[in-house]
Amino acid sequence: MNLQKELGDKIQRIEKVFDLNSVLAEKIDKNYIKRYYTTNKIPYSIFHNNLGLLHMGITRKGNFTQDDLYEQAKIIDRQIKKIKAKKILELASGRGGNSAYLAKINPLSTFEGIDITPVHINLSKKRFSHLKNCSYSLGDFHNLKKYSKNSFDIIFIIEALCHTQNRKKVLCEAYRILKPKGLMIIFDGYLDSSKITSKNIRLSYKLIARGTALEKFSSYEEIINASKKSGFKIKENKDLSPRILPTLQKFERLSSIYYQFPNLAKLINNFFPKKFVYNTLYGYLTPTLIKMRLATYRLTILQKS
Ligand SMILES: C[S@@+](CC[C@H](N)C(=O)[O-])C[C@H]1O[C@@H](n2cnc3c(N)ncnc32)[C@H](O)[C@@H]1O
Repeated sequence: MNLQKELGDKIQRIEKVFDLNSVLAEKIDKNYIKRYYTTNKIPYSIFHNNLGLLHMGITRKGNFTQDDLYEQAKIIDRQIKKIKAKKILELASGRGGNSAYLAKINPLSTFEGIDITPVHINLSKKRFSHLKNCSYSLGDFHNLKKYSKNSFDIIFIIEALCHTQNRKKVLCEAYRILKPKGLMIIFDGYLDSSKITSKNIRLSYKLIARGTALEKFSSYEEIINASKKSGFKIKENKDLSPRILPTLQKFERLSSIYYQFPNLAKLINNFFPKKFVYNTLYGYLTPTLIKMRLATYRLTILQKS
């Protein structure tokens, strides 16, 4: 099917299930984000994975397998080994699975994860307390005051920088606490605002943001500009969009069932929290946006001078 038509059809189906004005009226702030992840504590374990990982798998070939969820950590591991990193900080560590995986295979390095959602920090501490070189604490990545300058060899953040509307603040803080030549590794999704050529595209950008507790997705250009303004040099930039499609298609299949039966979906809407059912917006629309090359998923490695 023509992709423009696919997007149009999907939006028509969504309109039968949700009142779009109320979806778009949601104001996403830090409290909303914390409540979103708390609400989705059980659904994420059921519909995504139970490994303590809240991100897309990077599939090298064929269909999605759970092993794909460790690809981000494997890429980070190669950088740890390359620069012999000893102190590593994970911003927005979620349920702790990334740092725990890396801590196990790098016993001589220390890992610290911070996250704003108390439920996530509690889960991480409970599940990974046996790892002596890995710790987790509550913290907001906009404020890294508790760390002194030149503290870390590597800072990484997976699918979470998108939650800020103040990228430069986060990047400046990261720059300050990295050691000279230290690396900031970012995996994230972006929407290209220069490609808003129709009402449906504009609407779908807003809907997928609401579906994943974001006020607005940024464009890749905005991140690159903010990184340069914060003092970073861009060391690597890789478009991994096609590789996350298998994970997304898994969510697309689940969401399609929802939108196939609008009356049933409306009934479900009465019983389940909005912060849970809005996930279907992201799952349903994002694969189409990726195929249209309007949405991208990228690895970015920045280096402090
Ligand atoms: C999609 S999850 C990714 C979690 C983890 N990086 C992973 O790969 O499994 C996004 C995470 O960002 C966290 N987060 C959002 N805003 C934050 C902030 N201002 N400071 C710290 N963590 C934040 C959320 O609590 C959530 O755990």
